[in-house]
Amino acid sequence: MELSLYQAQLSANHTHLFIPCPTVIILCGPSGSGKSTFATRNFPATWILSSDKLRGLISDNERNQESNKDTFDLLYNLLDTRLRYKRTTIVDSTALRVQTRRKLLQIAHRHDFAVLLLLIDAPEKLCRERDAARIDPPPVGAKVVAEQFKLYWEIEKTAQKEGFEQVIKLNQHEISNLQVEIVPLSLEKPEQRGPFDIIGDIHGCYDELCELLNKLGYQLENGVYQHPLGRRTIFLGDLINRGPKNLEVLRLVSAMVKTDNALFTPGNHCYALYKYFQQPDSVDSNNTCEWIERLSAKEYVEASELINALVKDAPPYMILNRNKLVVAHAGIEDHMIGKLTTRIFNFCLNGEILITPEGNKQRKNWAENYRGKPLVAYGHTPTTKLLPEFRNNTVNLDQGCVYGGRLSAMRYPEMEFIQVNAHAAYVERKKRGV
Ligand code: CTP
Ligand code: MG
Repeated sequence: MELSLYQAQLSANHTHLFIPCPTVIILCGPSGSGKSTFATRNFPATWILSSDKLRGLISDNERNQESNKDTFDLLYNLLDTRLRYKRTTIVDSTALRVQTRRKLLQIAHRHDFAVLLLLIDAPEKLCRERDAARIDPPPVGAKVVAEQFKLYWEIEKTAQKEGFEQVIKLNQHEISNLQVEIVPLSLEKPEQRGPFDIIGDIHGCYDELCELLNKLGYQLENGVYQHPLGRRTIFLGDLINRGPKNLEVLRLVSAMVKTDNALFTPGNHCYALYKYFQQPDSVDSNNTCEWIERLSAKEYVEASELINALVKDAPPYMILNRNKLVVAHAGIEDHMIGKLTTRIFNFCLNGEILITPEGNKQRKNWAENYRGKPLVAYGHTPTTKLLPEFRNNTVNLDQGCVYGGRLSAMRYPEMEFIQVNAHAAYVERKKRGV
């Protein structure tokens, strides 16, 4: 089982919990709810940061509340270090204090890690009984357990809004029987090694796309463009909007993706169209989907089905050729590669908008600071130069075809550019910072 967006899932019969990796998992529940038992049963020992174990390491006493500050400083430090190494980490503490949860979230977000909060639910009576029966570590006492439950019930109400990527509540039956399965994100496709032809923003320039595919050596067979030498196209998103033949581009790309002749990663315009069909009022004026209104009823349904199939499960970026190549519509920062959060999803589709000291909006020039090992191929920001631009192991393949520029492909691994000129300037180039 593969997950493209960060989403932990309970299997239908609640026997398995699939968790995308890498991630931070914060366990939260009163003493005796079974957090440590669950953690040790389901994860390698080195993945678990247990506040009790750290108290023990510091002071030979797992219940020594006087060592709390040092214990949690150590825990935050270890979490920070593990995340620097991109290691999935389970935090095993009660996590009942909001300050603790905030700090853990802060550290995780600093490293662009998704955080899953697992609420370990248990009846108070059971926790009291389990606590009373404990020998090592000794009981915390019924009063403490009662106080913990007050906090826990509050968290059940607020957790969804605290900034976790996901919150899942597990009852006692579930945590006793569940098997955790760590699943890789579908971003990583090491087996996809190319050769590729990576194509930048198309924006409805269908005629130019056909010309480019022909120039690259693709041939139409049974209505699908295929390469006689088994090359695959990678579409970097923004297939549609602004240009003249949007539905035609959707058909062509969908047919190639469906038959495994192409890979696809969505752009902001693709995503806007996908959202448009779900909720037409949700699309902002910058993402012009008005061509949709001019389609016949049959074409409208067709466009909706095509974009839905393309975008629904598409990863916001892909890691290819054994980590040597990354493709993302608007680009990606090096520390984001291999991870997935809502912030990373938005960055890959839209880039990041910064406000200049003068108060103007400007696209963040992430490529300028990119120091990653994989080559990043991206589009989104049209350039006016004759050839696509390389910068710090990144290459921008959007040459503004819809504005009268060029449609460009980069052969990979050959690193050659194949281009066609736009047949017209279909829209005027916007003079804007974003
Ligand atoms: N236990 C149990 N059956 C379970 C889970 C736990 O009998 N399904 C027992 C454990 O053996 C242990 C006690 O309940 O003696 C507390 O479980 P533990 O996992 O240590 O609870 P935690 O939530 O980790 O408690 P604390 O916050 O105090 O560390
Ligand atoms: Mg414990």
